[in-house]
Amino acid sequence: MHCRLKPKISTVSKSFYVTTPIFYVNDAPHIGHAYTEVACDVLARWHRQRGEETFLLTGTDEHGEKVLRTALGNQTDPKSWTDKLVTESWLPLLKTIDIDNQDFIRTTEPRHEVAVQKFLQKLFDDDYIYQGSFEGNYCVGCEEYKNDGDLIDGADTFAGQRVCAIHSKPVEQLNETNYFFKLSQFQEKLLDHYEQNPTFIQPASARNEVVSFVKSGLSDLSISRSKERFDWGIDIPWDSEHITYVWFDALLNYITAIGYGSDEEKLKSLWPADVQVVGKDILRFHAVIWPAMLMAAELEPPRQVFGHGWLLVGGEKMSKSKLTGISPNQITDIFGSDAFRYYFMKAIGFGSDGSFSWEDLSARYHSELANGFGNLASRTVAMVNRYYDGVIQAPGEFTDADKRVSNIAATATREADLAIAQIAPHEAIAKIWTLVDELNSYITTQEPWVLAKDPAKNERLSTVLYTAVEGLRCLAVLLYPVMPKATGRLWDSIGSSLGALADQPLSSCETWGLLQPGVKLGELEALFPRVEESA
Ligand code: MSP
Repeated sequence: MHCRLKPKISTVSKSFYVTTPIFYVNDAPHIGHAYTEVACDVLARWHRQRGEETFLLTGTDEHGEKVLRTALGNQTDPKSWTDKLVTESWLPLLKTIDIDNQDFIRTTEPRHEVAVQKFLQKLFDDDYIYQGSFEGNYCVGCEEYKNDGDLIDGADTFAGQRVCAIHSKPVEQLNETNYFFKLSQFQEKLLDHYEQNPTFIQPASARNEVVSFVKSGLSDLSISRSKERFDWGIDIPWDSEHITYVWFDALLNYITAIGYGSDEEKLKSLWPADVQVVGKDILRFHAVIWPAMLMAAELEPPRQVFGHGWLLVGGEKMSKSKLTGISPNQITDIFGSDAFRYYFMKAIGFGSDGSFSWEDLSARYHSELANGFGNLASRTVAMVNRYYDGVIQAPGEFTDADKRVSNIAATATREADLAIAQIAPHEAIAKIWTLVDELNSYITTQEPWVLAKDPAKNERLSTVLYTAVEGLRCLAVLLYPVMPKATGRLWDSIGSSLGALADQPLSSCETWGLLQPGVKLGELEALFPRVEESA
C-alpha cells in the first residue's frame, strides 16, 4: 500500500514580547529606570493573565565611552566595573521592584557579541555598510552624534558654549575614519512603514515628531569607532581596527537575546516584539535607526515603539549625572514595592512627564491604598470572620445593588483591558478603581453591621458579604499585575480554593459567583500598614 506522508509543518505560535531599553551601567539605577521596568512588567503580567505566553526582556548596555570613562574614573577596568554594578545594583533592582522578567541580557555576553558580528557581517556583505570619514559633534552622555541644531546655549560654567540639551555639557569634536550604515536609503521605506502602521510609534505626539524628523532627511549613520581612541566594544568583524558604535551594538540586544543567529525557532516565536517601551529621549534610535537596521537585515520591525515621559526633578529629567537621581530603595524601604509600582503607574499618565513628590506618594498611599483598597479588604474579611466564623455563606437572591457590583466588575475588566492594549496603565488602574470605589460605597449603603443585628436579615447579610468578597476576588485578579505582593496576600485569605492567583484568567472577573459557599477565609493582615509621618 502506498502511504503518503504529510509534510511536517512546524507551527510556531507567537508569544507576547515586551522589552525595556537596556540600561547604561555607568551608575546604579534610579527611579526613572525603575519606572520603565515597572511599566513593562505590568504589561507583561497583564498579558500573561489574559492567557498569552509572555516574554519580558530587560538588561544592561555595557560598552561605549561613557561606561569606559566611568570605570577608569573609578580606578578600575570596564569589565570589573560592569560586573560589579550588574551584580550589586542592576540585578537586585529587579527584586526590589518585583520584576518578573524572562531574560536579562548583558551586551558583554558572548551570545550577544557573536550575534552582533553576524548581523554586521550580513549588512556588510549585502552592501549596506561602507567606509567613510566622520567629522562632527558627539555627546558621550547620550553616546550620540549631534547636529549643530541639536545643541543649546550653555549656562553657568559652560556659558558661551553650545551644550547637549539633555546633559547640559559641551559636546566633543570627532574626526575619524568610520564605517557607515546606509540609513539614508531607508527614508521612504520608513515613511511608508509609519503610514501603513499608524500605531507603530506611540503616543501620537511622539509619532508626529519622528515623522517630521524623517521627512526632513536622513544621513548615513557612523556605526563604528576607531580603536585609536578607545576599544571598549565589539570588534567590527572585517576590520579589527574598529569597534562597533555602542547604539548599533545595544539595539541588537532585542534580537540577540531571543536567538538571532543561533536559534531561529525561538526568534520566530517571539519576533517581532509586540511593544518596545523606551524613554522619549531615545525614541529616534528605536523608531528610525532600529527599524531601518531590521529592514536591511530582512527582519520585520517591532509592532510598536512606545516613548514614555520623564520623571522630572526641578523641571528637568531626573538623572544621576545631575545628582538628582533617587534610588528605588529609598521609596520601597518605606512604602514597599507594591506602593512604588502603583504610585508611578497611577500618578503619571504614561507618555507624559511627571514630577515625583514624597508628599503626593504619601497622600496617595494613605488615601488610595491604605484607606481605599486595604481597608475595604480588611473590613470585609473581618466581617465574614465576625459574623460567620470566616466561612463564606451561600448568597440569597441578588438585588439591583448587588448586580451593580458585578456589572461594574465586568465593565472595569473590559475597559482596563482596552487601556492596557493602548499602553495606558494609568487608565487601566483608574478603571479598576471604579470597583474599589463601588465596593466601598456598597458596604456603606448596605450596612452589614446593621443587618447583623437582626436574625431575620441573615440571608441578606450573607448576600452582601458574598458580593463584597466576590468583588475582592476580582480586585485581586485585576490588580495582581500592578501589585503582586498585596494581591497575593489577599488571595491567600480569600481565593486560594480557586488555585494560584497568577493562574486566574482576567475573564474570571467577568464571571460572578466563582467563590464557593462553605470555604473558610484565612487571616488577613493590613495590606498597606500606615507609614509614620516622620518617615
Ligand atoms: N543604554 C541606552 C538604551 C539602549 S536601548 C537599546 C540608554 N540607557 S539609560 O540608562 O540612559 O536610560 C534608559 C532608559 O531609562 C530611558 O530610555 C528611560 O526609559 C529610563 N529613564 C532614565 N531616566 C529617566 C527619567 N528621568 N524618567 C523616566 N525614565 C527614565 O539610554
